[in-house]
Formats: sequence, structure tokens, C-alpha cells
Amino acid sequence: NSNEPCDFVLFGALGDLSRRKLLPSLYQLEKAQLLHPETSIVGVARQSMDVEAFQQEVKKNIQKFGEADLCEDTWSRLSARLDYVCVDMKDIASYQQFDEHVNPDRTMVCYLATPPSIYGDICRGLHSSNIIDSSVRVVLEKPIGHDLESSNIINDQVAEYFSESQIYRIDHYLGKETVLNLVALRFANSIFATNWDHNCIDHVQISVAESVGIEGRWGYFDDAGQMRDMVQNHLLQILSLVAMEPPTTLDADSIRDEKLKVLKALRPIDSSNFNSTTVRGQYTAGFVKGEEVPGYLEEDDANQKSQTETFVAIKANIDNWRWAGVPFYLRTGKRMPKKVSEVVIYFKRQPHNLFGDSFQSLPPNKLVIRLQPDEGVEITVMNKVPGLTSSGSMDLQKSKLNLSFSEAFSAERIPDAYEKLLLEVMLGNQALFVRRDEVEQAWTWVDSILEAWRGSNEPPEPYQAGTWGPVESIGLLARENRSWYESK
Ligand code: BG6
Repeated sequence: NSNEPCDFVLFGALGDLSRRKLLPSLYQLEKAQLLHPETSIVGVARQSMDVEAFQQEVKKNIQKFGEADLCEDTWSRLSARLDYVCVDMKDIASYQQFDEHVNPDRTMVCYLATPPSIYGDICRGLHSSNIIDSSVRVVLEKPIGHDLESSNIINDQVAEYFSESQIYRIDHYLGKETVLNLVALRFANSIFATNWDHNCIDHVQISVAESVGIEGRWGYFDDAGQMRDMVQNHLLQILSLVAMEPPTTLDADSIRDEKLKVLKALRPIDSSNFNSTTVRGQYTAGFVKGEEVPGYLEEDDANQKSQTETFVAIKANIDNWRWAGVPFYLRTGKRMPKKVSEVVIYFKRQPHNLFGDSFQSLPPNKLVIRLQPDEGVEITVMNKVPGLTSSGSMDLQKSKLNLSFSEAFSAERIPDAYEKLLLEVMLGNQALFVRRDEVEQAWTWVDSILEAWRGSNEPPEPYQAGTWGPVESIGLLARENRSWYESK
């Protein structure tokens, strides 16, 4: 279990993220006996309710979003830890009651599952209550800002009261088992460690496709768009882990230093080159998994003139020694045919084909890292078809070496990303959290693309819901004689 007890204070304990993700994750940590026996969980929200009512809320949400069939033993241990404080988070006086709910001798973890616009108020309130010291940890959810400038405002507000070593910025993709496995695959296997550069790799594809649409979040999403919602954080984090140099150790700053160098080496995309390197799309009505769905502009509450992108494809270049000339193609969208996230490494073709007269008949090896669902790792290799032929020639066939997590680790449950991240915060390990300079660098790159799009005054390309995005995204690769990996 986490090696020291803490007071885990959850701001926004009745909000969507807490109900869907955080409370069910705490339940799973309890079930796995990973919470310290003395750790307490203090829910904070505006509604006035007593602890018993809060416990019932928590139970209901765990059953709805986590485990319908609650383990009674786990629940009785978890509910015994629960406490609740009603706080008006914008009102400093409201924080005075905290000392009755937390123990000054224990580490306090403050998880801000609230809109970022009140992070500053919460930090100020905590400060005024005299219960924070240098051992307090504060966890921030995305989105941290809307662009570099607004993210700096939020980060500055928090930094007034907390040092960087106390701040844990969540990107939940960093808690996914398969994303963490990128580090293991690359640095625990010499076949990958030594072949991971421009000498061996032709290009890399990172796709994060979702079948869902806007899910009742039109207002938030329309303001953000797929670029801010997915690329600025999740896709750039995956790209950094795939491309970074080996860190000296697995400690937080070694890893984050290396990720930052990748972000800094991303070739800027601006008004001079966005046309040849980016595609943005917006879905129109169509069918997803056999079900008819409305277009983005026909969703509830939609502003019908919106030019917000629900799909982005980018050809990114990393201008450093390792990746010279190796494009990283990124693609992410809503209302695509299915939910699938993959990293595909295309190795270079052999210099000469012994087995036929065309290069095309000897396809390149591919390493497919399936992040979700059907987690696994697959390598395509050319293999001789066993048997005799009258000409004596060798027949080759493309075959797969396939490691499926569900088969190889059938006894293990794949934990939700938030379980991993909550545990890491309680352990005080910042390696899986995003440092301020990474956030800034990611915004710098993304802002420049957004500005180029704005300046062009062109609407996003339409694509039918249930397809893999606008045809232009196919063209992005086709003009370089490449094509998107087709997920099974
Ligand atoms: C969130 C985005 O960060 O990630 C959502 O705000 C998106 O729009 C979600 O749907 C995807 O996460 P996952 O874990 O389902 O791939």
C-alpha cells in the first residue's frame, strides 16, 4: 500500500470526473489493498450534505460507473475513510473549517477536479486556512488553459502558493498501462533500443480515434476543439515517449527533461507550411457502428456556424539527430468508425529484394503498439510459406508476431489510468505528471497551428461520421507514397 497515510482531499467530489473516474478508482485501490490503512478521503463540494449522504452518493456512483456488484468488504473499508466538507470554493472564509477534517501530521493531497478557472481561488483558500505546508501536493486536471497565455495565468496562480515539486498535472494517457509500456518496450529490449532512429525507421503513425461524438459537452468542446482537447496533451505526450532519448533514470525529472527536448525539437507549423502538414475536419451526419448519428452542427446546443475541428491530422517533424527525415503522422478524431489508439512504427524497407523483382512485394516490417482497446504489441514479418514449389522458389507471406495482453496476462486486470495516477500521487512520484515547461512547450507548438488555421479563414473539411476522417488526411500520406495503418 502507499507507504505513508495521507488526507486525500477531493475538490469537486460530486462532479462528473469524480463520479465517473476518481471515486471508482479509489474503490479499486481499496480493493487491491493499496491505500494506507490510515488514509482518509475528504470530499469537498458546494452542496450541503452530511457524511452519510455523501457515502450514499459515492456508493451509488461506484456502482454506476465502476462495479455494479460492489464487494461489501471493500466498500465497508472505503466508506469508513470518507468524510465530507461543504465549501464555497470561491469564499476564503469557507476554508477555515478544514482543520477539523485533516490531520496536520499527515501529507495532504488536494485533487482539484473542478473547472481550472477556480484553481487560483482554491489555492488561495487553502493558503489562508494555514493548513498547507511544503508537504502538500496539489493535483490539477486538464485543460490547463486555452493557449499559452491562459495556461500561464493558471500556472502562475497555483505557483503563488505551491512549488513545482508539489504540483501534479494530470494527463490521464500517462496512466494507461500501454502508454507506460512504451518505456518498457523501448528501453528493456535491445532489438528496439538499437533500431529506434532514422537509420531504421521510415515513419511513425500515432492514431487516437474515438467513435463517440460530443456527449453533451458541446459548449466545452466547441471552445476547445480536437486540437486542444486531444493533441496538445495526449498525442504530444505519446509522441514524446516514443521519440525521447533514453532518460538517465526513471525518476520524474530525467523522464520529463527528455520529453521536453522532443517538444522543443518539433518543427514549427505556421502560416507558411500548415497547408502541407495539417488537415482538420468536422463530422457530418452518418452511421457509427450501424447507428445513425447527427453531424457536429446538428448536435444539441450546436452553433450552426461553428468551424471547430473534430478531427486533426498532422505531419510532424522532430528536428534532431535521431529523427532527421522521419515524419510522425498524428491523427485523432471524434465519430470515427471505432475507438482505437495505436502507435505504428514503420521500419525501412530492405535495400535489395532477393525474393522478387519489386520492392512492393517485400513490405516493410511494422511494429504495432495497440494502446487501447485489445491492448497488445504486434510485429509484422515476412515468413516463408512452408512447403515445396515446382519452381523451387520461395513463397513469402506477411505474418504476425502478436502479443495480446488479454491472453498473455489473462490473470491480470488492466487498471484504469486514474487508479495508477492516484496511487502515484499518494506515493509522491511525479514521473507520470506533466511539468510546467512541457505544458508551455506543447501550447507554443499548438498555438502556432491554431493561429495559422484562424488566419486562413477556411472551414474544416467535412467528413461523414463513421469514416476515418476527411479524404485530405489520406492525401497527407498518399503524396509521400504512404498510407494510414488500417486497424483491424
Ligand atoms: C479526454 C478528452 O481528455 O480524453 C475527451 O477531453 C476524450 O474528449 C477522452 O474523449 C479520451 O480518453 P480515453 O481514455 O477514453 O481514450
